[in-house]
Amino acid sequence: MNYSSTTSTGYRSARVTVVGAGKVGSTLAQRIIEQNLADVVLLDVVEGLPQGVALDLSEAQGLELHDRTIIGTNDYADTANSDLVILTAGLPRQPGMSRDDLIGTNAKVVGEAAKQAISYSPNAMLMLVTNPLDVMTYLAWKVTGLPPQRVIGMAGVLDSARLQTFIAMELGVSIGDVTTLVLGGHGDLMIPLPRYCTVRGVPLPELLDPATIERLTERTRNGGAELVKLYKRGGAYYAPSSSACLMAGAILNNQSRLLPAAVYLNGEYGLKDIFIGVPCRLGNQGVESILELKLTEEEQEALHQSAASVRSNIDNALASFG
Ligand code: 2OP
Repeated sequence: MNYSSTTSTGYRSARVTVVGAGKVGSTLAQRIIEQNLADVVLLDVVEGLPQGVALDLSEAQGLELHDRTIIGTNDYADTANSDLVILTAGLPRQPGMSRDDLIGTNAKVVGEAAKQAISYSPNAMLMLVTNPLDVMTYLAWKVTGLPPQRVIGMAGVLDSARLQTFIAMELGVSIGDVTTLVLGGHGDLMIPLPRYCTVRGVPLPELLDPATIERLTERTRNGGAELVKLYKRGGAYYAPSSSACLMAGAILNNQSRLLPAAVYLNGEYGLKDIFIGVPCRLGNQGVESILELKLTEEEQEALHQSAASVRSNIDNALASFG
C-alpha cells in the first residue's frame, strides 16, 4: 500500500507505528489518532486484525472529528519512515502469572518486531510496552543498536497514574491536584515515593497516615495483577494505552516533560547497563536528561534491589531471543 504521508501543504504529518493490534495496541492507536497526535500504522501478524481495527476506527473519524489517518497491515514495509515505533505485541499475563513469566515468549516477539520495525524506520524513537517491560526495553535496545536515548519503556507513568487515582479516591480530591512518582522496575519491587507525592504541593505524608499510604502504595504495586484477576483473560489496557499515548505526545510535540520511564542508566543512581524506571525529561530527541533524585538510603537500596531483579532476567531474555 502506498502510504502518502505528505499533506497538500507539503507538511509531513508525524507517523507512529504501533506493533500489536491487541487491546493495548488498538486502544493506543485510537487514542493517538483521536487526540490528533499523528497518523498511525497498526501492524500485527494476525491477518485481517489490524486492517479491521484501522477500518473500524476510520469509520469513526467523522464522528470523532480528527484529521489523522490509520492503516492496518501485516507488512513491515508499510511502517517505513515512522517517527515513533511503539511495541505492544506479545502475550499478556494470565491470573497467577508474574510479568517475568512472559519472558520466554515475549522476548522472541519483541526482538523480532524491534529488528523489523527499526530496519524500516532507522531514525525512529522506540517505545516498549510489552512485559516484562524493563527487560523487553533492554532487549529491544540491544537488538536494534539504537542510541540508548532513543529507546524508552512505558511503566512509571502507568504506575504513577494508578497511585494518583488511589490517592484522589482516598482523599476525595480532584485528581488534577494530585502528583505522584513511582520508580524502579515495573514489577513487585517498584518503588512508589510518598514523599514525592503531593496534593496541590502539600506532601502526602502531611495528609495521610503511614498505614493508609502503605495500603495505597501496595495497591499500586499490585495494580496490574488486580486487573488481571478481574479480567481473568489478559490484563489492563485503558490506563497502559493512555500512559503510552501521553509519552508519545511528549515526544511528538517536543514537550520536554519530566516523566518516570524505563531509561538506560550509565552510572546514574549507581546503576549501569540497565533500563529501569527513573524520572527523565522526554522530548522529540528522546531522553533529553535523567533526573537523579536525592534518595534516602532505604529508597536507594530498594531501587538497587529492583534493578537486581531486572538484571537477573536480562540474560534469560537475550538467550530466549537467541
Ligand atoms: C499493567 O501493569 C499491563 O503491566 C501492565 O497493567
